[in-house]
Amino acid sequence: MEPKYYRIEEILSPKFDGKQVKIRGWVYRQRNSKKIAFIVIRDGTGILQCTAKSSNFDEKKFEEICGIRYESSIIVGGIIKSDDRAPNGYEMQMNEFIIIHQAEPFPISKDQSEAFLLDHRHLWIRSQKLTSSFRVKAALIEGARAYFKEQGYWEMFPPIITGSSCEGGSTLFEIKYFGKPAYLSQSAQLYLETLIFAHKRVYSLTPSFRAEKSRTTRHLAEYWHLEAEAAFVDLDGIIKFEDGLVTAMIHHAAKEVPYDLQQLGRDPKELLEIKAPFERIRYDEAVERIQKKGVEIEWGEDFGTHHERALTEDLSSPIHVTHFPRDIKAFYMKTLDGKYAECNDLLAPEGYGEIIGSSQREDDIDNIIFNLKRDGSKIEDYEWYLDLRRFGSVPHSGFGLGIERLLRWIGKLDHIRDTIAYPRVMNRNTP
Ligand code: 4AD
Ligand code: MG
Repeated sequence: MEPKYYRIEEILSPKFDGKQVKIRGWVYRQRNSKKIAFIVIRDGTGILQCTAKSSNFDEKKFEEICGIRYESSIIVGGIIKSDDRAPNGYEMQMNEFIIIHQAEPFPISKDQSEAFLLDHRHLWIRSQKLTSSFRVKAALIEGARAYFKEQGYWEMFPPIITGSSCEGGSTLFEIKYFGKPAYLSQSAQLYLETLIFAHKRVYSLTPSFRAEKSRTTRHLAEYWHLEAEAAFVDLDGIIKFEDGLVTAMIHHAAKEVPYDLQQLGRDPKELLEIKAPFERIRYDEAVERIQKKGVEIEWGEDFGTHHERALTEDLSSPIHVTHFPRDIKAFYMKTLDGKYAECNDLLAPEGYGEIIGSSQREDDIDNIIFNLKRDGSKIEDYEWYLDLRRFGSVPHSGFGLGIERLLRWIGKLDHIRDTIAYPRVMNRNTP
């Protein structure tokens, strides 16, 4: 019979004090003196310090323990002891040691350049920071799915290869589709709109693609986009839903992965204090606030990173900016008084900026056609979309949330690349 291997997370408990167990994992840290060796082992559920006394092993075995390299895969057996000096309160007194694979000298050590770390991303993803970041991400998404279910939304699976643009031509990735041009999806929105007529409330989590030519700390060429669309919901209704969703996501993460949040420098208690509803201000007022901060902006200009930073750096909760000028917004947004769009951006606090783009959708087919022409789009590419305004059109609203943008705020990450395992940015698509 195969011996039972325990998970580190399950043995960190008084129940295991004094018990003999076996663990499989990787060498995270190693140091030794003549008589004693310390190995910190990492197994994907936690880390555990293991102490090997030379007197417990024959000479050859003890040499093997002392010669083990970082990131080697090993099996260790020993007795679990509670110990206040150990990082998590427990350590193993080792009496068994088996090498599964002795690693070559690990290329990553301290103080390496960002370019080097990106070239070795496939190894660097083992680091504590990225491990914690991806766990917080998983918890955020888990919280979102539970909230959507509770609110009666169906998960949908829209296409990635598309024939028409949702967010304008300048950031479209063109691909060859059996010899003809096609595009990678920027947003599932238009497809989700088609699906509300069958399901009323829908959402999807898909990769979205933007050929962003600027190098910034918050733009990826490929990111995970959480989008929703709901029939019979107006702007006020969709904003309320977004408040509920974002709160549910961050509270879920605070409860599920408090250790990982702390590793990233975020106090989970801070997140639990964030409560809906979030503040709402109109674009007009936002412009005034930005100007008062001494940052230049004119009415009619879209917000850049520095504008959003000025607006949010002193806040501790997210804020909605509503009713942008219609001329700077997408063709599908509902027009108000010919001047504004019935839309909102949700901006993260502490200067992190936009995490959600959202609007009530235009139901007047003539307005949509007018806007498409304004943008220089071909009407025939959107005939299928216009059909939605011909067959049972209803007031409806929806939004898109950038998962990596949300995580960057929640995890206090300086750069968006640390929110995703293999960041796709200009000049990099490997490994
Ligand atoms: O504001 P955006 O462009 O809105 C849309 O795509 C709508 N069609 C969504 C909808 O209503 N269904 O993008 C939505 C969100 C942004 O708020 C931001 O969080 C994220 O997607 N986002 C990016 N995240 C990372 N890298 C990029 N290059 C991003 N571009 C947008
Ligand atoms: Mg936007």
